[in-house]
Amino acid sequence: MTTITGTEISRAADLLAAGEVVAIPTETVYGLAANALDGRAVARIYEVKGRPAFNPLIVHVPDANALKKYAREIPDLVFTLAEKFSPGPITYVFPKRDNIPDIVTAGGDSVAIRIPAHPMARALLERLPFPLAAPSANPSGYVSPVSAAHVAAQLSGNIAYILDGGHCAVGLESTVVKIEQGSIRILRPGAVTHEMLAAIAPVTEANTDKVLPGAGQSSPGQLASHYAPRIPVIIGDVKLLAQTYKDRKVGLISLDELSPSRDLAEAAQKLFSRMRDYDATVDVILAEWMPNEGVGIAINDRLRRAAATQP
Ligand code: TXA
Ligand code: MG
Repeated sequence: MTTITGTEISRAADLLAAGEVVAIPTETVYGLAANALDGRAVARIYEVKGRPAFNPLIVHVPDANALKKYAREIPDLVFTLAEKFSPGPITYVFPKRDNIPDIVTAGGDSVAIRIPAHPMARALLERLPFPLAAPSANPSGYVSPVSAAHVAAQLSGNIAYILDGGHCAVGLESTVVKIEQGSIRILRPGAVTHEMLAAIAPVTEANTDKVLPGAGQSSPGQLASHYAPRIPVIIGDVKLLAQTYKDRKVGLISLDELSPSRDLAEAAQKLFSRMRDYDATVDVILAEWMPNEGVGIAINDRLRRAAATQP
């Protein structure tokens, strides 16, 4: 299959309507999209990504009204959050309706739904009569793509079209939340931060989120196969590590290196590009924890996963 990269929303829409898989830009990372109501189209996503069948997909919809079509119960708190943060980099988990095929939710009873903010993603969703299931458009286990070129580098030949929406503004996958008895459980940290959510309702964090600088890996099963470049990622004091690795070709990741003005949002936007560049050019990545606040928590989460034992 020839893969074409372009900016034609109508072409992407036609392919999706025909049951094809198309890479689309979002403000977080590029997604590998298919008609979420078509189990066969969604099966192609798993095939192209090499994604394990137990990992459910996010369903993308054009606006908050569409949530009701696919979610069985919507806590009021979600509408409050959606008013503030959607369209944007946040995903909500709900009990699913029967119209969502089991393959989308990996057989589970809940569905994750997001309203993306990228103008091309919105235009596409608004013209389609169905929602889009879309995981990040990378082979399972690798770093998420934040440009059309990143997608093409790995999925060329396997998908028909890459809708090119430029470099992703956020650069990290969305915050995934679930409402439990009036509080917000963060299942995956992202650019909608703990602090932003805590201003609205009590927040609890699942698993790994509050990374302590210097902390070891937690449960490897959770971490091992995610967001990892092929080369080793070592986290610590980059100046000391640079001494230890002085005979190797190293790439450095630190707040100063990603953002000279020490802006965490800029660091988040550049993180995955930097990891990919280093993966192609150096032997080992030496990284330093970000300040553990704001989007720094999400960056630290991705760094920790990248550093987790690799196959
Ligand atoms: O920013 C994003 O979320 C990007 C763009 C393309 O929207 N998508 C993305 O998808 O990162 P993916 O498949 O790479 O990650 C989806 C995450 C996984 O951690 C998955 O386990 C979780 O969302 N997830 C999906 N459905 C879920 C559900 N029903 N309950 C709990 N977690 C769920
Ligand atoms: Mg992913």
